[in-house]
Amino acid sequence: MNNIENIGPHFQEATKYVRGRAVPQAAMWATPPSTYKTYDSYLETTQLPEPVVEGGQSLWEAVSGRRSRRKFGAAPMSMEELSQLLWATQGVNAEVEGFELRTAASAGALYPNETYVVSQNVEGLAAGVHHYMIREHSLGMLTEGDFADELAQACLEQTWMTTAGAVFVWGAVVARSAWKYQNRAYRYLYLDAGHIGGQLQLACQALGLVSCNIGAYLDNEVASLIGLDGRAEVVVYITAVGHGD
Ligand SMILES: Cc1cc2nc3c(=O)[nH]c(=O)nc-3n(C[C@H](O)[C@H](O)[C@H](O)COP(=O)(O)O)c2cc1C
Repeated sequence: MNNIENIGPHFQEATKYVRGRAVPQAAMWATPPSTYKTYDSYLETTQLPEPVVEGGQSLWEAVSGRRSRRKFGAAPMSMEELSQLLWATQGVNAEVEGFELRTAASAGALYPNETYVVSQNVEGLAAGVHHYMIREHSLGMLTEGDFADELAQACLEQTWMTTAGAVFVWGAVVARSAWKYQNRAYRYLYLDAGHIGGQLQLACQALGLVSCNIGAYLDNEVASLIGLDGRAEVVVYITAVGHGD
């Protein structure tokens, strides 16, 4: 059973919680890994405008209009829109007993997913790969350049992505979640990413932007474009966003 063909059922079986079987526990004396990734330096940093936390389209309108759309127009995204989307997906919205909680739920509040924005058509933001610094609500540029074609090729030639304003890529820092959940953590990396992607689509809908989630990509190629090793931090989800045509 434990071979590559049956890895799915094996993973499901091996990571089950079963009555009578010990549930993996985090060592209480061990220091949990930080829920924030930091880089020593960035090519440049860009402060995002403050997000708007009230008003806007109703949740019911956003839910009823949500759709995956793959046609983008020429209009660039604004920094205000990008700011709103980043906050709606990973912004800090509460502090409880010293723990910073975010807009999207996360198993054990461990927040394994890091957000990278590949900017393609955002007014005031250079094209390139940017890391979202959550606490600072700012972006740090990791690589400058137009990666639209390379990214679309790495997403199994999904060329419709090349005209998106920005492509969000989430990388999961496995150790952050595995610290507590061991192999079961892999379930949560993807579940967490699903929450984030779902919220991003609703936020796009509320802002009048279009979006499409992407699960079809060459893992190693996207990881290398973002600068991840693809093992300690793995690409778990991608969403292309922008103005419609
Ligand atoms: C996990 C996941 C992965 C997806 N991957 C892709 C993808 O690689 N390319 C694509 O064009 N659409 C992708 N989609 C979008 C689906 O095709 C779309 O959600 C589905 O057709 C239903 O349409 P709707 O979102 O407009 O309701 C993905 C959606 C999800 C939830």
